[in-house]
Amino acid sequence: MMRQLPPDFFRTPYAFYERLRAEGPVHQIELRTGVRAWLIVDYGAAREALRNPTIRKDPHTATGAEARREGAADSGVGAVNERLSHHLLNMDPPQHARLRKLVTPAFAPARIEALTPRITAITDELLDGLARAEGPVDLMAEFAFPLPITVICEMLGVPTADRAQFKEWSAVVSDITLADPERMRSATAAVVTYFEDLLARRRAEGPGGDLFSDLVTAGQAGDRLTDDEIISMAFLILVAGHETTVNLIGNTVLTLLSDPPRYAALREDLDRVPALVEEMLRFEGPVNMATLRYTTVPTVIGETEIPAGEFVLVALGSANHDERHFAAPEIFDVERNTNGHLAFGHGIHFCLGAGLARLEARVAISRLLDRYPDLRLAVDADEIAWRESVLFRGVQDLPVEVTKAPALR
Ligand code: HEM
Repeated sequence: MMRQLPPDFFRTPYAFYERLRAEGPVHQIELRTGVRAWLIVDYGAAREALRNPTIRKDPHTATGAEARREGAADSGVGAVNERLSHHLLNMDPPQHARLRKLVTPAFAPARIEALTPRITAITDELLDGLARAEGPVDLMAEFAFPLPITVICEMLGVPTADRAQFKEWSAVVSDITLADPERMRSATAAVVTYFEDLLARRRAEGPGGDLFSDLVTAGQAGDRLTDDEIISMAFLILVAGHETTVNLIGNTVLTLLSDPPRYAALREDLDRVPALVEEMLRFEGPVNMATLRYTTVPTVIGETEIPAGEFVLVALGSANHDERHFAAPEIFDVERNTNGHLAFGHGIHFCLGAGLARLEARVAISRLLDRYPDLRLAVDADEIAWRESVLFRGVQDLPVEVTKAPALR
C-alpha cells in the first residue's frame, strides 16, 4: 500500500512513525512532489539498510539514473546541477573512501577541539547581541543560525558576508520536497559559479589555511580530486553546516524552554549538557530522514522484498523512537543510555561533522544557560511552526523573551 505523509507530519512525525512501526519495518511512500520510495522505520532495519553494501547512492550509475527516473518524478531532485553531484553523499566504495580520506583530517578530534575558543567567542558575541534586543527575539535568526554558519564559513574560507546568499541556496537545495525544478536549476547553477570563482582565486593567489584550500591542494598533489569534486564537497559541507547544527540548537532550546524547571535545573548542572545534547539528538534530531539511497538488487528487509532500482529512505527519527531499542522513547530523559542513536547516520556515510556539531551545541547551550537564566518562550510552544522538510527537523522561528540583562563579564 502506497502511503502519504499525514497533514500534521511536520508538526509531529512520531505518532505517524509509531503507527507504521506497529505494522512493519518497511513501507512504500509517496512524498508530496511525487518522489516514491521505500521508507524504513524500525531501528534494526534502519541500521541494516544503512550498512547494506548493495543499497547505494551514486546517481551516475545506470541503476542510479533509473531509480531517479522512476522515483523522483518531476521533483527538484533531478534538477540539481550535475557539477554539484560529485560529493560524499553521492558516492559508493571505492570512490567514497578515497574522497573521505582527503577531508577527514580537517575534522579530526584535535582540530575540532582547537576551535573551542573561536566557537565560544562567536557564541558570546551573538549572546551580547540578544541583550540589546527590545521585545521578543527570534532565537533562530539571532543565535542558532549565525553560530554554525559563521563557524563553517570561517572553516571553509568563504566570506561570512555572503551568508545571506548561502542561506537561500542551501534552503532550496536541501528540500527534496521542492516541486519547482526551475528554482533548483538556477540556485545550483549559481552555487557552481560561486565556487568556480573561488577555485580560480585560490589557484591564482595560492592556498590559505582553510578547508577549501586543503581540497584544492589535495587535488593538485596527486590529481586525486577533480574540479567538480572540489566544488561538490565544498557545497556539501556548506549545506551540512547550514541545515543541521542550527536545528540541533533550536530544537534543544525549544525542548528546554517548554519545561522551564528543566531549564533552571540544568543551569545548576552544566556538566550534564553533553548528555543533554546526546538525548536531544535521539529525541529530536535535526535529520529526520537520511538522504536518498537505492537498491541495486532485490533486497529483503524485514519480510518485504524491495525490487532493484528503487529509492530507499531511512527514517532516522523513527529508528530513534523505536520502542524496541529505546524504552519509553517519547520521554525526553537526559539520564537514559543514548548509545547507538542514529542521528548522525550509520556505516560509511556516518556524519563527518559529528564532532563539530556536538562541540557547537555544547558551547551554545552552556553559554546560553549561563548568560540567560530567565530565558522563556514568547509564544505557546504549540504555536511554533516546524519547517516542511522531510530531511531536516527544525522550527521556522523561535520567539523568546530575554528579560534580565546578562551580567557583564
Ligand atoms: C547536529 C548536526 C548534524 C547532524 C544531525 C548531521 C547528520 C548527518 C547524517 C544523518 C549524515 C548521513 C546521511 C546519510 O547517510 O544519508 C551526515 C553525513 C554528513 N555530514 Fe552531517 N550532520 C550534522 C552536522 C554536520 C556538520 C556541521 C558538517 C560539516 C561541517 C557535516 C558534514 C557531513 C558530511 C560531509 C556528511 C557525508 C559523509 C559521507 O557521506 O561520508 N554534518 N550528517
